[in-house]
This record gives sequence, C-alpha cells and structure tokens, in this order.
Amino acid sequence: MILKGKRILVGVTGSIAAYKTAILTRLLIKSGAEVQLVATTSALDFITPLTLATLSKRPVLSAFFEKSSGQWHNHVELGLWADLFLVAPLSANTLSKFAQGACDNLLTATYLSCRCPVMLAPAMDLDMYQHPSVRANLEKVASFGNIVLDAETGELASGLSGQGRMMEPEHILERVFDFFNSKNEFGGKKVLITLGPTQEALDPVRFLSNHSSGKMGFALAQAFKAAGADVHVVAGPVALKLDGHGFQVQRVTTATEMYEATKALHGQMDVIVFAAAVADFRPESPASQKIKKQGEELPLRLFPNVDIAFELGKMKKEGQIHVGFALETEQEEVHAKAKLIRKNFDLVVLNSATEEGVGFKHDTNQVRIFNKNGGDVQTALLPKLDIARLIVEEVKKAAAWS
Ligand code: CTP
Repeated sequence: MILKGKRILVGVTGSIAAYKTAILTRLLIKSGAEVQLVATTSALDFITPLTLATLSKRPVLSAFFEKSSGQWHNHVELGLWADLFLVAPLSANTLSKFAQGACDNLLTATYLSCRCPVMLAPAMDLDMYQHPSVRANLEKVASFGNIVLDAETGELASGLSGQGRMMEPEHILERVFDFFNSKNEFGGKKVLITLGPTQEALDPVRFLSNHSSGKMGFALAQAFKAAGADVHVVAGPVALKLDGHGFQVQRVTTATEMYEATKALHGQMDVIVFAAAVADFRPESPASQKIKKQGEELPLRLFPNVDIAFELGKMKKEGQIHVGFALETEQEEVHAKAKLIRKNFDLVVLNSATEEGVGFKHDTNQVRIFNKNGGDVQTALLPKLDIARLIVEEVKKAAAWS
C-alpha cells in the first residue's frame, strides 16, 4: 500500500490507449491511492465511465455541469484536492491545449487551476508523435515543470510500429511510486551507468562475451532515477527492456563502442557507475567470412581491450564520483582494493563469484562496498534493487554536494 493516503487525479483524453487507464486505475487503487477520474467527452468514446467509476469507486467527472443531478463540478476544488494530476493517455489535442493554456472543458480547466505536480503520459500514432508541432508542445509543457513520461515503442493501433504507445500502466505506476518516494536527493544530478556484457566478434556469426545479464546495472539505473537523478545508460547487448523507465539509453556491442559512448558523456556527468562486464580481450581481427573447420586446432590471438574505467579515471573531474565493480574469485578484498586505487574509483563494489545467489544472472546479490577513505560496508543477500539503493546511499555519502 505504497500510495496509501495519496490522492491522484487521473485525466483521460481521447485515445485508443484510454482502455489502459482502466488497468492503471486498478493498479493505483490496489497500491492504496484515492483516485478521481476526469475525462474529456472524446475519452468516453473509448472507455465507458461505468468501467472507470467501478474501478476507482467514484463517479467519473466530465462536464462542468450535470443536468441530471443539477451538480456543478468545481475544477478549482478538484485541482486543490489532488497530490498528483496524472493525465494518461494525453492526446495530441489536449497536449496542444495544455501548451497554449486553452480552457474548454473540465479537464483543461482543472489542469490550469491545479497546484499539484502534473505527470503526462502522451499516446499518439508514430508520425503524430514525431511531428515538430507535437515535439514543440511536449518541450513546452515540460518547461512548465510537468513530468512528461516518454511514449513507448512497439505496435501502434494504426498498424505502424514505432514510438507513440502510451507508457505501460505498470511503468507509469513505477514512476508514480518514484514520484512519491523520491526525496529528490539526486535532483539535477546526472548519472551515467555502463551495464551488460560486451561482444567481440570472431567472425560474422560468432563472438566472445560473458554471462553478464545487466540486471545489477539496471537496478542501479532504477535506484538513481528514484532518487531524482537524470540517468544515462550505456548498455551492452542485454535482453532487458531498458526503454520506458525514464533513462536515456544508448546501446552498444563492443568494448570500443562502449568506451566511445561513455567518454562522450563523461564530462557532463556527476556520477559514473562502471557496472558493465567489459570483455577484456578481442580477437586480433575478426574474419570477414564465417570461419570454416579446417584442421584440429584454431589458434586465436587476442588483443587487450581498452579499460574504460581506467581511462576515464585519468580524466575524472573535481567532484565527480566514479563507482566500480570488482568480480573476484580469490583474495577478494585485496584485489578489490587494488582496483579502487588503480582505476581511481571513489567506491568499489565487490561481488564474490563463488557464493550462491550472487553475481551474474541472479536477481539477488551480496556485496561489500569499499570507500577510498577506508569505509567498508557489508550487505546481506538482498534483491538487486535493494543492493542498488544501498550503493546509491554510499554514493550520496561520498559526494561533496550532499
Ligand atoms: N572495466 C572497464 N573496462 C574494462 C574492464 C573493466 O570499465 N575493459 C570496469 C568494470 O566495469 C568494473 C571494473 O572495471 O567496474 C573492474 O572490472 P573487473 O572485470 O573486475 O576487473 P578487470 O580490470 O577486468 O581485472 P581482472 O579481469 O584482471 O580481474
């Protein structure tokens, strides 16, 4: 019941995604929130007020004045009642009204008079979402301080495929949790996280890589996001769905690509977490055609890859925090502390490769976090998201701005 006692005004506008507002309403109610729906008339072409009223346990408001009951719905009171005004889905039409300050229905009037933060989940077809006027309106409403939840990529109602789908209700719920939970300790701070493995081609169909799933880096991205940071992710090839969580994501394949992407962002970042399991070696020169069986043996010459953390450690700026990981199988503390110094980390997170439930692929982890000033924190075996929260705490303690 994370949202117990929270009052959420949910706005619904005319979009096929309005059917998902029913699921969203149910999730919010199940999490303990009080939900009041405000719908435009065209929203009610897509979803019945009876469905939404039953799920939210309150009548859906749509008009200023209800002839049947003679009731007047006061938009100012509605706006003052809410802790959050969440408009999902937000159509291009209502977006444009929000951008212009138009006030021609109960929902737009409520938007103009509400004092609480506003979260917007646009839903549009591919080309509409990319249209320069829509992009300009999205930027404009974001500049007013509204939280804009990026549309997700996938199949669209038109049959086209691309960005435009309303963020999935489960993802919106995560963002609502973050909004209420966040103490905004990393507000205005930029955090870059490398995650996943890298792949180094042997030939067009084979590569060298490792078992990294990217789960720890993903948990860190979520934890920093929840703490209010502007999160950038440079991800090697992982199966995780990284879009729709509010991070800026760049996907790369090789260690060299990861280095280039990370170096380009490094200068603007306040915190960099090197959570990727970068392949230390690459084949001397990948074959341009598939390597055929010829004899018994195939000698492989491997060249060392760039050590991203080491190279960027040399460029570390005053006040920047670098966090590294160390995966060790023996003399763990000695090796981890050596990496802390060699790679100019502020913190190093030691994973043991030998313990049960720890490291690659698992959803749990147990770590020791060493600080360059001698601090040493040992965690229990916990879900990776909890470990990530503890790491975020340690980063906060280490940061000069905190
Ligand atoms: N790292 C990196 N680039 C590399 C190798 C490692 O950025 N080419 C980073 C990892 O993301 C991690 C830290 O350096 O934060 C330590 O990685 P690890 O694989 O434990 O250590 P290595 O330096 O590769 O040393 P070794 O494999 O000899 O233990």
